[in-house]
Amino acid sequence: MINTKIIEFNDIIDAKNIERPMGHLTPIEGFKDVPFDIKRIYYLTRVPENTIRGFHSHKELQQVLVCLNGSVQISVSTPYEKEFITLDDPAKGLYIGPMIWREMYNFSPGSVLMVIASEYYDEGDYIRDYRTYCEEAQDFF
Ligand code: TYD
Repeated sequence: MINTKIIEFNDIIDAKNIERPMGHLTPIEGFKDVPFDIKRIYYLTRVPENTIRGFHSHKELQQVLVCLNGSVQISVSTPYEKEFITLDDPAKGLYIGPMIWREMYNFSPGSVLMVIASEYYDEGDYIRDYRTYCEEAQDFF
Protein backbone atom coordinates (compact mmCIF):
# COMPACT_ATOMS: atom_id res chain seq x y z
CA MET A 1 0.00 0.00 0.00
CA ILE A 2 1.12 3.58 -0.61
CA ASN A 3 3.51 4.94 2.08
CA THR A 4 3.79 1.52 3.76
CA LYS A 5 6.06 -1.47 3.18
CA ILE A 6 7.47 -4.52 4.91
CA ILE A 7 11.21 -4.30 5.55
CA GLU A 8 13.21 -7.52 6.02
CA PHE A 9 16.16 -6.94 8.33
CA ASN A 10 19.41 -8.85 8.37
CA ASP A 11 18.64 -11.90 10.54
CA ILE A 12 22.07 -13.07 11.71
CA ILE A 13 22.09 -16.65 12.92
CA ASP A 14 25.88 -16.99 12.90
CA ALA A 15 25.79 -20.76 13.31
CA LYS A 16 29.43 -21.58 13.95
CA ASN A 17 28.28 -24.86 15.41
CA ILE A 18 24.98 -26.16 14.04
CA GLU A 19 24.77 -28.59 16.96
CA ARG A 20 24.49 -25.64 19.33
CA PRO A 21 22.16 -22.85 18.07
CA MET A 22 23.03 -19.42 19.44
CA GLY A 23 19.92 -17.47 18.51
CA HIS A 24 19.23 -14.57 16.20
CA LEU A 25 20.79 -11.11 16.09
CA THR A 26 19.02 -8.35 14.17
CA PRO A 27 20.84 -5.05 13.67
CA ILE A 28 18.91 -1.94 12.58
CA GLU A 29 20.87 1.09 11.41
CA GLY A 30 19.51 4.51 10.43
CA PHE A 31 19.45 5.30 6.70
CA LYS A 32 20.52 1.71 5.98
CA ASP A 33 17.94 -0.69 7.37
CA VAL A 34 15.27 1.98 7.84
CA PRO A 35 14.91 4.84 5.31
CA PHE A 36 15.51 7.67 7.81
CA ASP A 37 17.76 8.85 10.60
CA ILE A 38 16.61 7.31 13.90
CA LYS A 39 15.66 9.97 16.46
CA ARG A 40 13.41 8.01 18.83
CA ILE A 41 12.53 4.48 19.90
CA TYR A 42 9.60 3.49 22.08
CA TYR A 43 7.84 0.23 22.77
CA LEU A 44 4.44 -1.04 23.78
CA THR A 45 4.42 -3.77 26.40
CA ARG A 46 1.84 -5.38 28.72
CA VAL A 47 -1.04 -4.28 26.48
CA PRO A 48 -4.23 -5.85 27.92
CA GLU A 49 -6.35 -8.19 25.81
CA ASN A 50 -8.88 -6.53 23.48
CA THR A 51 -7.05 -3.20 23.52
CA ILE A 52 -6.96 -1.21 20.29
CA ARG A 53 -4.31 1.49 20.08
CA GLY A 54 -3.34 4.01 17.44
CA PHE A 55 -6.39 5.70 15.89
CA HIS A 56 -4.25 8.44 14.46
CA SER A 57 -2.07 9.54 11.57
CA HIS A 58 1.08 11.62 11.44
CA LYS A 59 1.63 14.54 9.11
CA GLU A 60 5.37 14.00 8.60
CA LEU A 61 6.64 11.32 10.97
CA GLN A 62 8.00 8.09 9.52
CA GLN A 63 8.02 4.97 11.67
CA VAL A 64 9.02 1.32 11.50
CA LEU A 65 7.11 -1.08 13.76
CA VAL A 66 8.84 -4.28 14.84
CA CYS A 67 7.16 -6.96 16.96
CA LEU A 68 10.02 -8.23 19.15
CA ASN A 69 7.96 -10.87 20.91
CA GLY A 70 4.55 -12.43 20.31
CA SER A 71 2.29 -10.98 17.65
CA VAL A 72 0.18 -7.94 16.92
CA GLN A 73 -2.11 -6.96 14.07
CA ILE A 74 -1.98 -3.57 12.39
CA SER A 75 -4.42 -1.95 10.02
CA VAL A 76 -3.08 0.82 7.80
CA SER A 77 -5.36 2.93 5.65
CA THR A 78 -5.88 6.02 3.57
CA PRO A 79 -9.31 7.29 2.49
CA TYR A 80 -8.83 5.10 -0.60
CA GLU A 81 -7.38 1.78 0.60
CA LYS A 82 -6.89 -0.36 3.68
CA GLU A 83 -4.57 -3.24 4.51
CA PHE A 84 -4.22 -5.61 7.46
CA ILE A 85 -0.79 -6.85 8.54
CA THR A 86 0.24 -9.36 11.19
CA LEU A 87 3.63 -8.68 12.76
CA ASP A 88 5.09 -11.76 14.46
CA ASP A 89 8.73 -11.83 13.33
CA PRO A 90 11.46 -9.70 14.99
CA ALA A 91 13.38 -9.74 11.70
CA LYS A 92 10.60 -7.88 9.85
CA GLY A 93 9.43 -4.29 10.19
CA LEU A 94 6.39 -2.42 8.96
CA TYR A 95 7.34 0.98 7.55
CA ILE A 96 4.60 3.60 7.89
CA GLY A 97 5.17 6.94 6.20
CA PRO A 98 3.23 10.20 6.47
CA MET A 99 -0.56 10.47 6.39
CA ILE A 100 -1.40 6.82 7.05
CA TRP A 101 -4.18 6.09 9.53
CA ARG A 102 -3.13 3.17 11.78
CA GLU A 103 -4.74 0.95 14.38
CA MET A 104 -2.98 -1.77 16.42
CA TYR A 105 -4.96 -4.61 17.95
CA ASN A 106 -4.86 -8.30 18.94
CA PHE A 107 -1.71 -7.89 21.00
CA SER A 108 -0.81 -11.40 22.12
CA PRO A 109 -0.01 -11.86 25.84
CA GLY A 110 3.62 -10.87 26.43
CA SER A 111 3.93 -9.13 23.06
CA VAL A 112 6.46 -6.34 22.64
CA LEU A 113 5.96 -3.83 19.83
CA MET A 114 8.97 -1.60 19.22
CA VAL A 115 8.54 1.58 17.19
CA ILE A 116 11.50 3.29 15.53
CA ALA A 117 10.74 6.90 14.64
CA SER A 118 12.27 9.56 12.41
CA GLU A 119 11.46 12.49 14.74
CA TYR A 120 11.27 13.37 18.41
CA TYR A 121 7.82 13.21 19.98
CA ASP A 122 5.65 16.10 18.76
CA GLU A 123 1.93 16.11 19.53
CA GLY A 124 1.52 18.77 16.79
CA ASP A 125 2.41 16.17 14.15
CA TYR A 126 -0.56 13.95 15.10
CA ILE A 127 -3.97 13.93 13.42
CA ARG A 128 -6.22 12.21 15.95
CA ASP A 129 -9.64 13.13 14.52
CA TYR A 130 -10.69 10.74 11.72
CA ARG A 131 -12.80 13.31 9.81
CA THR A 132 -9.96 15.83 9.85
CA TYR A 133 -7.64 13.03 8.71
CA CYS A 134 -9.87 12.16 5.74
CA GLU A 135 -10.08 15.80 4.65
CA GLU A 136 -6.32 16.34 4.85
CA ALA A 137 -5.47 12.94 3.32
CA GLN A 138 -7.71 13.60 0.31
CA ASP A 139 -5.56 16.62 -0.53
CA PHE A 140 -2.32 14.76 0.30
CA PHE A 141 -2.77 11.70 -1.93
P1 TYD B 1 0.06 7.54 21.32
O1 TYD B 1 1.02 7.85 20.24
O2 TYD B 1 -1.34 8.07 21.18
O3 TYD B 1 -0.01 5.95 21.52
P2 TYD B 1 -0.80 4.80 20.71
O4 TYD B 1 -0.97 5.27 19.30
O5 TYD B 1 0.09 3.60 20.80
O6 TYD B 1 -2.09 4.55 21.39
O7 TYD B 1 0.69 8.00 22.71
C1 TYD B 1 0.10 7.68 23.94
C2 TYD B 1 0.54 8.71 24.96
O8 TYD B 1 1.95 8.70 25.13
C3 TYD B 1 0.17 10.13 24.56
O9 TYD B 1 -0.24 10.82 25.74
C4 TYD B 1 1.46 10.73 24.08
C5 TYD B 1 2.51 9.97 24.86
N1 TYD B 1 3.77 9.77 24.11
C6 TYD B 1 4.93 10.42 24.50
O10 TYD B 1 4.95 11.19 25.47
N2 TYD B 1 6.09 10.20 23.80
C7 TYD B 1 6.12 9.38 22.72
O11 TYD B 1 7.20 9.20 22.09
C8 TYD B 1 4.91 8.72 22.31
C9 TYD B 1 4.89 7.80 21.12
C10 TYD B 1 3.76 8.94 23.03
